[in-house]
Amino acid sequence: MKIDVLTLFPAMFAGPLDESIIKRAREAGLLDLRIHNLRDYAHDRHKTVDDRPFGGGPGMLLKPEPIFEAVEALRREQTRVILLSPAGRPFRQSIARELAGCDDLMLVTGHYEGFDERVREQLADDELSIGDYVLTNGALPAMVVVDAVTRLLPGVLGDDDSAKEESFSLGVPGLEYPQYTRPAEFRGMKVPEVLLSGNHAEIAKWRAEQARRQTRERRPDLLT
Ligand SMILES: C[S@@+](CC[C@H](N)C(=O)[O-])C[C@H]1O[C@@H](n2cnc3c(N)ncnc32)[C@H](O)[C@@H]1O
Repeated sequence: MKIDVLTLFPAMFAGPLDESIIKRAREAGLLDLRIHNLRDYAHDRHKTVDDRPFGGGPGMLLKPEPIFEAVEALRREQTRVILLSPAGRPFRQSIARELAGCDDLMLVTGHYEGFDERVREQLADDELSIGDYVLTNGALPAMVVVDAVTRLLPGVLGDDDSAKEESFSLGVPGLEYPQYTRPAEFRGMKVPEVLLSGNHAEIAKWRAEQARRQTRERRPDLLT
């Protein structure tokens, strides 16, 4: 998969996407991630990317020209162009799965008060929000999307089943079951007996019940 990111803060991406699973996916050629500086597409002396909103109001908006030029230069026919914005549709695991099936994504990140509306109207195939709160710019949301999508690409996780048996992926909408590792008893707290029994049918039944219970107790909204 190829992912292009358009940002004013390329340096923010060094670090989070150079560690662990995502680092290995990039080294193995499973993810081709390219970070582009929006300022490279501004051509005046000061490399201006923002301007005051028509009609007044606080803050600055990203101008359309550099974004249009960058997206038009970088996108291919099959590229899905996604704006990161608090006004987008809520990003969830089902959307991460959908995006993992694409070959080519472009994540366009904002800053200041966001984008000139014509960017959304004309350039974007989709608009995603990572939650109902406002961040200073779209670099962290873009990294969230890159991470969530990349780990679903075939071959990225050591065991591809890991992504099937986890929260939001168990067939019914819901959370994962509780898990334990050694020691079987720690400070008087014992691991549930059934997990030590070796009885796979009983373990599967217990896990399904626990997943339903956790979802009911912690995220009942997922069941409605
Ligand atoms: C300060 S925010 C702009 C907020 C905008 N004025 C509004 O009220 O919706 C600047 C940029 O950060 C990114 N951003 C902030 N919060 C986000 C969120 N929850 N999800 C996705 N992107 C977000 C977007 O790219 C946005 O253009």
